[in-house]
Amino acid sequence: MNLSDLKKKKKILMLTAYDYQMAKILDDAGIDMILVGDTLGMVVLGYRDTKSVTIEDIIHHTKAVARGAKSTPIIGDMPINTYNTVEDALKNAKKILDAGAHGVKIEGNRTKIVESLLKEGIPVMGHVGLLPQSAERFRLQGKKAAEAERILGDAVALDTVGVFAIVLECIPESLAKKITETVNALTIGIGAGIHCDGQVLVINDILGFDEAFSPKYLKRYASLGREIRKAVANFKDDVLNGKYPDEKHTYH
Ligand code: KIV
Repeated sequence: MNLSDLKKKKKILMLTAYDYQMAKILDDAGIDMILVGDTLGMVVLGYRDTKSVTIEDIIHHTKAVARGAKSTPIIGDMPINTYNTVEDALKNAKKILDAGAHGVKIEGNRTKIVESLLKEGIPVMGHVGLLPQSAERFRLQGKKAAEAERILGDAVALDTVGVFAIVLECIPESLAKKITETVNALTIGIGAGIHCDGQVLVINDILGFDEAFSPKYLKRYASLGREIRKAVANFKDDVLNGKYPDEKHTYH
């Protein structure tokens, strides 16, 4: 599948992945796009937020994802401070594409930067609403009329320069609906309600690795944190009590 086929989809499915095995599973499962998001910083690298993620981190993990996802388009997130100037944006976006991505994602109303990437034939996904690279507090955005107008304006500006999709993060359903009805770009929501053209979630969150992380928008589809703890406890118990390795798992 390629990015231009996404328009034909009833709903676009995007999930994050950061490694080979997960990318392979998402590829086999028919997910439409894989995002190598800078959430990588929190869920894989143990940083407090996305601000410490570097271009090298994204390149390293995009390469791993590209080895696993043979037919799913991959979008690489551009880390903070890698697209402050047109020159930096072009240089860093090309590195992400060379690592195996098919497009890049940029946070905020950065139309000049987006235009320069599009001119070079690099597909760009925008991102409005809650912007983790610059937000002071992680909270719903666009509840007040003026803020909603600004977010709508950002989405329209990005759409006008030609992004193929826009992530709408943590905004009221009614605002996401208005943006979706206004722009040509595909809207992909996270905490933005049902009316978006697609949905994106962080894979570690839907799999329930961290039970303490529970924003309102998040639906967990598994409890892997609990399952992994159970498996590790069982392994510990077996080894300490001489039950592993048993006959079945021993070479002679
Ligand atoms: O970095 C990321 O994973 C993201 C998603 C939450 C959309 O930007």
